[in-house]
Amino acid sequence: MNLLLPTKKRNGREGLQDYRNRKGYEGWRLARDQEPGKTVQAIVDSGLRGRGGAAFPAGRKWQLLSQKATKTRFLVVNGGEDEPGSFKDRYLMEHYPHLVLEGAFIAAFALDVGQIFLYVNESFDASQRSLKEALEELATSGLLDGLEIKLDFFSAPQDYVAGEDTAALEVLEGKPPIPRKKPPYPVESGYQGCPTVVHNVETLANVPLIVREGPESYRNIGTPDSPGTMLFYLNEEFEHPGVYELPFGTPLRYLVEVLGGGLKGGKGIKAILPGGPSTAFLPGELLDVGLEPKALVEAGSILGCGNVRLIPEEACMVEVTLEIAEFFARESCGKCPQCSMETNAFVTILKKIQAGEGDSAMLEQIENVANFSRGKGDCGLIHMAAAPVLSAVQHFPADFEAHLEGRGCP
Ligand SMILES: Cc1cc2nc3c(=O)[nH]c(=O)nc-3n(C[C@H](O)[C@H](O)[C@H](O)COP(=O)(O)O)c2cc1C
Repeated sequence: MNLLLPTKKRNGREGLQDYRNRKGYEGWRLARDQEPGKTVQAIVDSGLRGRGGAAFPAGRKWQLLSQKATKTRFLVVNGGEDEPGSFKDRYLMEHYPHLVLEGAFIAAFALDVGQIFLYVNESFDASQRSLKEALEELATSGLLDGLEIKLDFFSAPQDYVAGEDTAALEVLEGKPPIPRKKPPYPVESGYQGCPTVVHNVETLANVPLIVREGPESYRNIGTPDSPGTMLFYLNEEFEHPGVYELPFGTPLRYLVEVLGGGLKGGKGIKAILPGGPSTAFLPGELLDVGLEPKALVEAGSILGCGNVRLIPEEACMVEVTLEIAEFFARESCGKCPQCSMETNAFVTILKKIQAGEGDSAMLEQIENVANFSRGKGDCGLIHMAAAPVLSAVQHFPADFEAHLEGRGCP
């Protein structure tokens, strides 16, 4: 099976020789020798989906960019990763920097990009160091000889919204991380108004494998709708926390029980947050759902960026949901009044419910706030904030009722 990462976990950085020993930079050699259009077509045919949360087909972005007449084009490697509990991008950059760099160079070459921005969270010292060391190795390897692609490091503010693609472009232009109104999308008008592709670190890490082995081989893993593998992170609440690479479609149960060893102390599961705080809760019984975007949408949530959290049976969903709502209220950048209103309203309502003030009309109020906000705002944060609150009320009404009736946490 073609995986991105060796099965044996590493502690330090994978050096150039080790990477080349497992066919590293063979994709780059192929991409340099073939027509750029062939590489673009390979990404389209592979069905590669973005791993930054939206699962958007990468090939569609590549096709759009390659059709642009403008010759000044940019590629942003998005290593902003500031979502609580998400670790996969820093894991890749720190341990497998050549994989990320090879993907970025193949993309830049195929898309005729003149400049790559490595946009890395300012707090990821180890990731920045690893990428820099890998670039030093590359500089003396001869692999980049004759290449005219500039590469610049950029520190991403430690700020959730700074990972949003247009907020990242603002930061690159020296401005605060405030998302832009879309359209136009970055492939139309991105950095300095020029066509720009923004890709998540993990998305680019898939590119060498696709180019080297071919799209048909890549499609042998995963599902027809979502080929390939994805990195999933299990937090310290699991017996065996860590980053795991699995083919799309693998049952969640395999990840959390077989690999993760379940929750520490053998605790039962009340709820599942399949892709981090911005995804809807699922009832704890749904452990057989497939880890792939389509299956999770059908189940009532989304896959997000593979940041799996299980809520233990003794937890109170009002408390858990309030903690998430407070995160979004803190991280809302303040540009869109509807987003500020929504995220603050969720906190106010949930605090009242927690304190046993009010009645079941407050649950309707949550729905009204979410309905009012739907389709508004310049970025996805407004919808991310609503998903956990609405799903908590839907699946765990008893916890809310217990608080509203003055009985406190169940
Ligand atoms: C509030 C917010 C924060 C985001 N943070 C990140 C991030 O840290 N890293 C990332 O790759 N994408 C993040 N995204 C998604 C990006 O906007 C964009 O979709 C992604 O970088 C595109 O890459 P992909 O197509 O390779 O997934 C965020 C989106 C939103 C709305």
